[in-house]
Amino acid sequence: MDKETSVGAFRAVMVLALICSVLVAGAAVGLRPRQEANRKLDRKKNILRAAGLYQGKGDVEELFQQVETKVIRLADGSFVPPEQIDPAEFDQLGSLQSKETSRKLSKEEDTAGLNRQEKYSLVYLVKKDGQLDKVILPIRGKGLWSTLYGYLALSADLSTIIGITFYEHGETPGLGGEIENPDWQAGWQGKQLYDSNAPNGQPAIQIVKSQGKGPHQVDGVSGATLTMKGVNNLMHFWFGEHGFGPFLERFRGVSKK
Ligand SMILES: Cc1cc2nc3c(=O)[nH]c(=O)nc-3n(C[C@H](O)[C@H](O)[C@H](O)COP(=O)(O)O)c2cc1C
Repeated sequence: MDKETSVGAFRAVMVLALICSVLVAGAAVGLRPRQEANRKLDRKKNILRAAGLYQGKGDVEELFQQVETKVIRLADGSFVPPEQIDPAEFDQLGSLQSKETSRKLSKEEDTAGLNRQEKYSLVYLVKKDGQLDKVILPIRGKGLWSTLYGYLALSADLSTIIGITFYEHGETPGLGGEIENPDWQAGWQGKQLYDSNAPNGQPAIQIVKSQGKGPHQVDGVSGATLTMKGVNNLMHFWFGEHGFGPFLERFRGVSKK
């Protein structure tokens, strides 16, 4: 090949590469809003599923209208006015990036392997005849390979579990990945998160290896002991004093009045 031909071929390849990269970058940018919308819709679907309000049929946006989204301050469980933090705009996981809106957890505190914890959290309420009927709370924590993200729904007594969902994780399919399996998730229904006789207010729920028949026991997945340990740890973290403990305590006080 003479010199002129090879320079021409090189130019053609460069132009083609440039056109392709512009097309790929354009598609990535152009599709981002749609991906974001799908991500939000998937979160809503999981919130509804945890609360037993979605079984794969129906318009998610329409069903979600019965859910009231609020922001709370985790330290004392108080509601944050929407003028201060708009629940529709609040990026809870994004708030972990700022020292103002999150804090580093000490080794003793960090039982769910989070490293940092946000100061504010979204909570989802479902009311019936003006009374609280269900609360759905976001949960997350380290499994074996990855951070597990999900929701736990409680009934109005703030202890009886309605359901659990996990919408994102990187555990092994068939092993830790079974946290996504609706059959395993169904084993949580009706279990008691707290033991009203326990003096310390700590969660009593436990994932056990054998068949979990007790009111606080949930069946583990065999061959996935480490993921199960992660789920157990995250439940104890989020429903203890550093998680939703103060919020549930405050809410319990209000609903008893
Ligand atoms: C390729 C591979 C993937 C694994 N994935 C998981 C997993 O996602 N979750 C988990 O707990 N254990 C997983 N394990 C198994 C753990 O290494 C460990 O053996 C297991 O948690 C012990 O559970 P058992 O006591 O119920 O047998 C995996 C093992 C291998 C070889």
